[in-house]
Amino acid sequence: MSATAQPTSPHVMNTYGRLPIALSHGQGCRVWDTAGKAYLDGLGGIAVNTLGHNHPELVPALQDQLTKLIHSSNYYHVPGQEQLATKLTELSGLTNAFFCCTGLEANEAALKLARKFGHDKGIERPEIVVYEAAFHGRSIATLSATGNPKVQAGFGPLVEGFIRVPLNDIEALKKATEGNPNVVAVFFETIQGEGGINPMRWEYLKQVRQLCDERDWLMMIDEVQCGMGRTGKWFAHQWAGIKPDVMPLAKGLGSGVPIGAVVAGPKAAGIFAPGNHGTTFGGNPLAMRAGFETLTIMEEDGLLANAEAAGAVLRGALAEGLAGEAGVVEIRGQGLMLGIELDRPAGALLAQALDAGLLISVTADRVVRLLPPLILTHDEAREIAARLVPLIKSLLAQPKP
Ligand SMILES: Cc1ncc(COP(=O)(O)O)c(C=O)c1O
Repeated sequence: MSATAQPTSPHVMNTYGRLPIALSHGQGCRVWDTAGKAYLDGLGGIAVNTLGHNHPELVPALQDQLTKLIHSSNYYHVPGQEQLATKLTELSGLTNAFFCCTGLEANEAALKLARKFGHDKGIERPEIVVYEAAFHGRSIATLSATGNPKVQAGFGPLVEGFIRVPLNDIEALKKATEGNPNVVAVFFETIQGEGGINPMRWEYLKQVRQLCDERDWLMMIDEVQCGMGRTGKWFAHQWAGIKPDVMPLAKGLGSGVPIGAVVAGPKAAGIFAPGNHGTTFGGNPLAMRAGFETLTIMEEDGLLANAEAAGAVLRGALAEGLAGEAGVVEIRGQGLMLGIELDRPAGALLAQALDAGLLISVTADRVVRLLPPLILTHDEAREIAARLVPLIKSLLAQPKP
């Protein structure tokens, strides 16, 4: 976020450029700040609040769980892990899940799976293909896999063992890995989120799947932002009709309760043995309940279909409202993961949107990003566009910096 940095406390570490409001509560797709001003939520806590706020079924389920058990330990069986893993494997066509707490943790687990996959076949210095403009997290390994020099600056030396390639270019991938026996995996987001809503083409996904099969590489798809129904399928890669070997998830899976998961297919599910990987909080009963209830409610309420339909309404209203604006480079994305790329920096829109009662995000400097809750109604979709379009038009009416 490129808002002006405003430390709100001398005691909270100054890691975010925060906008000058604090939210106090929410209902559905609306939230209110501590001064009582209402906002329409076009951000969903950055693709996290799948079911919006104060959901009438999720909240009682979490309250019930709180009274039973919040945390036990992975020293013991956790029935909620069995339940959620079964559900995730049914939805993904994969076979086993490991649970953690965040996106970067899920990606760390994926990177470790890939390295051990290599070591198990005698590759001592495994290498993983990653992509330009990718974002995989801010731990040292996931930062190294990330393709954004700005967020990497100041944290070297980065982790070695990554080969970086451009998106959607199968010849570039073949060339970058030609004759290299150390390659073990290809790792990417189906639709890059932080990188600016950049989709991988379905044809490319099929080509990568084929290459991974031919060369015995793991296909690892980071669905942390684009997964969990946001594009209208459970996982965005399912639009291409392919299955990965490893799929990190987080964000929307718990509808606001911190949770991460790595779901793996037969080629990767048996790589870890006891002692290879773990995390204290991962798979705790509260997070498992949040994940299971989120998926159940999504199914019962048809939220995949809604993401697709409300996304089409939102996109249509944006396209109509911004028609003929030369400064709009492209409107892209899928379902309720949409980006509007402008021909100039868009950060100023963040505060203006707040004034207009709307939460949005700007990423990759020039891309207005919308990731609203999947319960968004068609009227709310039109309302987001109605509030946002005039702001974009007025930005574009100014001389280009
Ligand atoms: C695709 C992707 N992967 C990983 C992450 C990191 O997730 P977390 O912030 O939960 O560590 C993000 C966060 O934005 C993401 O968009």
